[in-house]
Amino acid sequence: MAAHPTTAFDINVQPADGGSRYKLTEEKMATITIFGATGDLASRKLFPAVYNLWNSGFLPKKIAVVGVARKPKTDAQFREEMCEALKKHSRSTDGLGDACDPFVSNLYYQQVEFHDPAAYVKLRERLEEIEKKSNMPGHRLHYMAVAPEYFAPIIEQLSAAGLTRNNNGGPWSRVVIEKPFGHDLDSARALNNRLSKAITEDQIYRIDHYLGKETVQNIFAFRFGNAIFEPLFNQKYIDHVQITMAEKVGMEGRRGAFYDQTGALRDVVQNHLLQLLCLVAMEPPAISGAKPTRDEKVKVLSAVEVPKGEPLDRWSVRGQYTEGPGVKGYLSEEGVAPDSITETYAALRLRIDNWRWAGVPFMLRTGKCLKERVTEIAVQFKQPPTHYFRDYGIAMPQPNMLAFRIQPDEAISLRFNAKPPGMSMQIAPVNMDFNYGESFKTELPEAYERLILDALRGDSTLFMRSDEIDYAWQIATAIAEEWKDAPPPSLYRPGTWGPQEADRLFETCAGKWRTP
Ligand code: BG6
Repeated sequence: MAAHPTTAFDINVQPADGGSRYKLTEEKMATITIFGATGDLASRKLFPAVYNLWNSGFLPKKIAVVGVARKPKTDAQFREEMCEALKKHSRSTDGLGDACDPFVSNLYYQQVEFHDPAAYVKLRERLEEIEKKSNMPGHRLHYMAVAPEYFAPIIEQLSAAGLTRNNNGGPWSRVVIEKPFGHDLDSARALNNRLSKAITEDQIYRIDHYLGKETVQNIFAFRFGNAIFEPLFNQKYIDHVQITMAEKVGMEGRRGAFYDQTGALRDVVQNHLLQLLCLVAMEPPAISGAKPTRDEKVKVLSAVEVPKGEPLDRWSVRGQYTEGPGVKGYLSEEGVAPDSITETYAALRLRIDNWRWAGVPFMLRTGKCLKERVTEIAVQFKQPPTHYFRDYGIAMPQPNMLAFRIQPDEAISLRFNAKPPGMSMQIAPVNMDFNYGESFKTELPEAYERLILDALRGDSTLFMRSDEIDYAWQIATAIAEEWKDAPPPSLYRPGTWGPQEADRLFETCAGKWRTP
């Protein structure tokens, strides 16, 4: 009897090789410098990510991570602080022990005044000394976890000090740049221009941590690893797409000053939401890899249309949260101007003007201090073309809905209609659910783990190219332009789903905002 073919339906939790093709050997490992090492991002996300990669064997045992910042500090102090941070923030504390040894013995600290050329010469000497001592090959990954105004000055200084060499076949250097990449189209272009004089595009890894989320990458697997859904992903079958990124938190007492200069559009629409839109809307690249994938995303972004000619309140709503039970109003947050009109909520109806998506509204929504923390993409299909059940006195069945739950309770759910048992003909919606927790009994890695590993491996698929950033800013800037002379944001109470006015965005299409 012929052997039973391996069924594609078996859930294979780990890659057959345990992910070994992603493991870095000593010759391929880079020295990592983290600029902004004393900041929040570094202690909450970056060092824990490096620890988890190291602890799960993706990095060699001997590594060198150099924290760089302006405060004076010894290696010993820094190791102690990072040990505390790991105990607090790492998703796994397995193997950490009391003193976090031996992991923290791989950490070093170097004080650098960001505008002082001599400090970069010292940094280079320090890196050479550490690399020699640890027998490391001299590749370098510089991570910019600093305020955006320092991105260009630091990278220019690194380049001037010979810290960005990129020898073909020899030691390489790469730079990871955090968001926000620019404040608008002009500043993003100016930054891209400045960087292009110091380093080459292939050395730049512009991060959007949403792309590192397991569930976001799973959109690739779902769309391009299954043959049954992709033929339906177009204007013939899809009524509209809703992308929601809702947060329960407000300013958390520390982000007011930054946020007030930024607002929801620049903080998350320009990057996270447009990236999610790209992933649901892009064409399947012919082959995998950074260039084909990013080319397709760029095509989507270049086809996004802001419905400028339409009345503003039909396609965009801005909101700002007021005071609520136990929650300060936005205007009372530290660092926020008392008469600020910065939006803490934004809802948009955009179009993608291409063959696949013409006429399909893409509804985007995000906000702070909303009812739940949830990010999801919901694809609503069209109604059946005829109402077969009319004569039974049954209402038109609900349209099919495919929902990608990005976080929390990561899942994919497909809603379809079924007949509840009984003598009468009835139609009721039911769900077919795939739940990460139940199907893959394993903890999901953090987005930063994936992205740091990719940057070390030289895979830029999940990072943004300069033209992608440019198109995303063109969209955000066009929206901001339309908002310039608009009335101030509508107010909403914390713990709700945002301003009622957002419902108007559905006036020209079927459906309503989901309450996930
Ligand atoms: C950041 C934004 O990029 O993403 C924050 O600046 C937001 O305002 C955060 O809170 C949300 O990230 P996550 O991973 O918690 O959804």
